[in-house]
Amino acid sequence: MGSKNKLKRFKENETFDNVFQPTREELVDAQYKLKGNWRSSVFKNDNPLVLELGCGRGEYSVELAKKFPKKNFIGIDIKGARFWRGAKTAIEENIPNVAFIRTQIELVDVVFAENEVDEIWITFPDPQIKYKRTKHRMTNSQFLKRYKTILKPEGFVNLKTDSEFMHGYTLGLLQGEGHEILYANHNVYKQEGSPEEVTSIQTYYESQYLEQNKPITYIRFKIK
Ligand SMILES: C[S@@+](CC[C@H](N)C(=O)[O-])C[C@H]1O[C@@H](n2cnc3c(N)ncnc32)[C@H](O)[C@@H]1O
Repeated sequence: MGSKNKLKRFKENETFDNVFQPTREELVDAQYKLKGNWRSSVFKNDNPLVLELGCGRGEYSVELAKKFPKKNFIGIDIKGARFWRGAKTAIEENIPNVAFIRTQIELVDVVFAENEVDEIWITFPDPQIKYKRTKHRMTNSQFLKRYKTILKPEGFVNLKTDSEFMHGYTLGLLQGEGHEILYANHNVYKQEGSPEEVTSIQTYYESQYLEQNKPITYIRFKIK
């Protein structure tokens, strides 16, 4: 994407009611005003809150929002020019139960309060295969601790990926740390049993992997 196009999207994001771009100061220097108040201030209801971390263009957030109108969805990504697509679609199609936040996933426990979140989706994260990149892997022990803080006790995480490494790493870590694996599937389009929302929605990255005939894997788990 050209820089002109990106700038246009950044400008447009600032005008969208469904886009939130907290500054570092707002997050770090004081308690963020929406922390603990996402349902009441933004969605104006008491429905369950579902996050998509590293949402890219926001396909999952938008499609889940259409499928589940009685739940609220928030896509999070550091790249505003990407989720511009999802935010724009939500406005054009009048989908009120989806929003987007431009921030780092490392800050989820600053943006959301304890027990504020019902469910998390992690869709096609960068697997960060190199050992030195372990700290950036979105299912490492430190990230799981952050997710546990914001999730309700009965809350759970969905991981959908094309990376066998990420699938195996996460299963191993979950078992090693004693978390609860609710469901696992190593090839969601070939091995039956995946929830409908796993096979009926494809993200941008997913469609590229499917063209290469790569198996797509899925894990649903609870953090203890
Ligand atoms: C491989 S892409 C997948 C995007 C989308 N989920 C999909 O399937 O098409 C990973 C996304 O995560 C975002 N991301 C990676 N690390 C992040 C971080 N620490 N904080 C916020 N976003 C991050 C990137 O900007 C990118 O959009």
